[in-house]
Amino acid sequence: MDPDLLGILMRWLHVGSAIVLLGGTICLKFVVGPVLNDQSPELREAIRGRWKKFVHAGIAGLLVSGLVNYIRALPQHQGDGLWHAMVDTKIILALAVFFIASVLVGRSKGTQKFRDNAGKWTTIVVLLGLLIVALSGVAKVATSPKASEAAVENTDPRDAALAR
Ligand code: HEM
Repeated sequence: MDPDLLGILMRWLHVGSAIVLLGGTICLKFVVGPVLNDQSPELREAIRGRWKKFVHAGIAGLLVSGLVNYIRALPQHQGDGLWHAMVDTKIILALAVFFIASVLVGRSKGTQKFRDNAGKWTTIVVLLGLLIVALSGVAKVATSPKASEAAVENTDPRDAALAR
């Protein structure tokens, strides 16, 4: 059987982008951020400018691979309430993470209030990011197509007939 090259590439891109975006934010929150508090605005600006490129690349990587993953996984999870609950919820949370992560490295006046409370909003990004990974893991393990087939097999045949 030919290896699913697109599936492998999208998984590398998705999990890789998640590692960079979430890992980098945790490093900023607990390692770099506390040290930067009494450093010059120039130094903070230099770090913001560099991290911004990773944030934009990470968001692009997660969106592209996430959409491809989602479209390819849909047929296998038709009627799979748990998978949709996990994945659809995480996508909504991910859009919130993308917005907050973008304004924290942004410059527009309208979103300055987020950067004035960068500590609080970075914590929110970390907590949402960890929740998203947890939901993704449940979606991956608890609702694999095999799990869905097994669930159907163990269902009372009369109910299974109704479900088809
Ligand atoms: C902060 C943003 C995100 C993070 C941290 C994240 C993280 C992850 C991780 C770690 C997995 C792999 C789970 C595993 O194999 O154990 C995963 C799977 C997945 N992600 Fe994301 N993701 C994010 C955003 C998105 C977005 C925006 C989409 C869709 C547009 C998406 C769609 C998916 C899909 C469809 C899967 C596969 C689920 C399955 O195979 O059953 N993700 N995600």
